Amino acid sequence: MLSRKEGEKLSRLILSVLAISFSLEATEPISPLPQSIEYDHAKAALGKKLFHDPILSSDGTIACVSCHLLESGGDDGMKFSIGIKGREGNVNSPTVLNSYFNFRQFWDGRAKDLEEQAAGPIENPVEMGHSIEKAVESSKHTTPILRYLRNFILTVSPLSIYSMRSQSSKRH
Ligand code: HEC
Repeated sequence: MLSRKEGEKLSRLILSVLAISFSLEATEPISPLPQSIEYDHAKAALGKKLFHDPILSSDGTIACVSCHLLESGGDDGMKFSIGIKGREGNVNSPTVLNSYFNFRQFWDGRAKDLEEQAAGPIENPVEMGHSIEKAVESSKHTTPILRYLRNFILTVSPLSIYSMRSQSSKRH
């Protein structure tokens, strides 16, 4: 049994060890990926389908997977990616593998997370050249899963679409 004084000493020691480990954690630039994360499986299935679907581009020719080949490391291996109508961008596509864990998105870090990043490729004139509203509109006439997307996107407020756009700026 510890005396009261020893007890106090011990709890101070534990607190300082905890404080050191928290501050180490806070300054650590790289942390290991978690073994698993919780996610909504229905939304993930929809995301996977849309990732491969050129309907998100204005002329129906380019899908996310055109520039982010999941089987080849998540990029396209090109100096500059090619979007709709053969238009060439001015940066190369980074991998999207594990991009959920990036602390910022895009080469210059202009989007803070995937939600902010999402409108970029769809509305970028040299990538998919579309608008969110038109992409939603065209999805009305297609498969049920895309109708689900319409409802899903409609739950995103105009304000958040505005903020996604302003973050995405000219390039995506
Ligand atoms: C025409 C080619 C092209 C298409 C189509 C495209 N991307 Fe990209 N993607 C890029 C390029 C180029 C960048 C880097 C842009 C930058 O940093 O300015 C990028 C960046 C990203 C990033 C940021 C990754 C990081 O490490 O910062 C994500 C995530 C992403 N794209 C997802 C998507 C999704 C989802 C779609 C479909 C809705 C898509 N992309 C469609 C070329 C493309």
